[in-house]
Amino acid sequence: MKKLLITGGAGFIGSHVVRLFVEKYPDYHIFNLDTLTYAGNLENLKDIENKDNYTFIKGDITDAEHMNTLFAEHVFDGVIHLAAESHVDRSISDPLAFIKTNILGTVNLLNAAKTVWKDQMDQHLFYHISTDEVYGSLGETGLFTETTAYDPRSPYSSSKASSDHLVRAYHHTYGMQVVISNCSNNYGPNQFPEKLIPLSINNIKNNKPIPIYGKGENIRDWLYVLDHARAIDLIYHKGKNGETYNIGGINEWTNIDLIHKLCEVMDTKLGRAKGESAKLITFVKDRAGHDLRYAIDSSKLMNELGWEPSLQFEEGIEKTVDWYLANEEWLNNIISGDYENYYQKQYSER
Ligand code: NAD
Ligand code: DAU
Repeated sequence: MKKLLITGGAGFIGSHVVRLFVEKYPDYHIFNLDTLTYAGNLENLKDIENKDNYTFIKGDITDAEHMNTLFAEHVFDGVIHLAAESHVDRSISDPLAFIKTNILGTVNLLNAAKTVWKDQMDQHLFYHISTDEVYGSLGETGLFTETTAYDPRSPYSSSKASSDHLVRAYHHTYGMQVVISNCSNNYGPNQFPEKLIPLSINNIKNNKPIPIYGKGENIRDWLYVLDHARAIDLIYHKGKNGETYNIGGINEWTNIDLIHKLCEVMDTKLGRAKGESAKLITFVKDRAGHDLRYAIDSSKLMNELGWEPSLQFEEGIEKTVDWYLANEEWLNNIISGDYENYYQKQYSER
């Protein structure tokens, strides 16, 4: 049985990746390593937590000693590394947390892997999950490709860019097999309600203001989270050693247009009069250093590995709204902080 370590598997994207691998590959044992920060929520995985090929490990990637012990104990065949501090606004108020987890934590994993894999580097793979934000900010035209020069502009994107460079350094210096993917904005079930779409769904539902930074003219490319998980599966199995793959939704929206679209869907779902939810839109102070536009050219991934996004945005946003409305308890547990007790309840006696 192959042993695969997925870090950050209790978070938004990680939980979808863990579920996909646990269900699709019964011959893999999936180890989910997560320290359960405010963003980690084991309720995201309660449907698979008792599967035979799944183990949750509570651990912090900034703890080098623990990482060394873990890798020596299990000798993982591969690693898919998603654990990170992920929210740009938090990186502006507390950059150090991002440096610790995203840079030092990644180096700890690379070091632990290097020590254990050293004589058989060609038998193991380190897959690093990154972001399109490392490429900086686009003007009105153009797309990020895999060869676009790095130009990170927030503490978050700088820490991710730094970790990307370190992963490449371990490939070139120590011969570690690595792949990296850089993805655009994800949306879908289980996203923590600090990010634009779930925050807005929650506020609209509760008749609270929807905060739009600046004039709402910033542009993001949105991808349904399961399409990202499918791309990760493909890249883990078919990606070429040392290569980078960009992943995007071919789905650019200004923030204000996206929120108007979301308000329309919410009006329908909540039985409100047309235009009712949009009255909650409130323009607020802009994010410091707010990147204007991200847009991705995914043609390498599409042409070489045969991936393409499966969901149109209209369908994806409806599914997302349906999920949040049907999972009020998940959302309420987060708002109240109760989700943090789930680990205690589920795992304390094990
Ligand atoms: P998230 O914040 O929802 O989840 C992050 C997870 O990592 C949480 O479960 C958290 O507990 C865990 N974690 C944080 N610090 C840790 C530490 N020190 N040790 C162990 N676990 C730790 O993040 P997400 O949105 O799911 O993003 C996952 C990855 O994908 C990140 O690397 C992020 O940079 C990247 N990414 C995200 C997006 C997006 O739109 N969300 C897009 C492209 C790339
Ligand atoms: O591009 C990929 C990145 O997408 C990931 O690497 C990050 O982990 C992820 O958080 C996301 O970053 P963004 O900063 O683009 O996502 P966020 O949801 O925070 O914001 C999306 C846009 O909406 C951005 O232009 C800022 C704006 N915004 C955000 C919030 C939370 C608002 O106008 N109001 C808000 O309340």
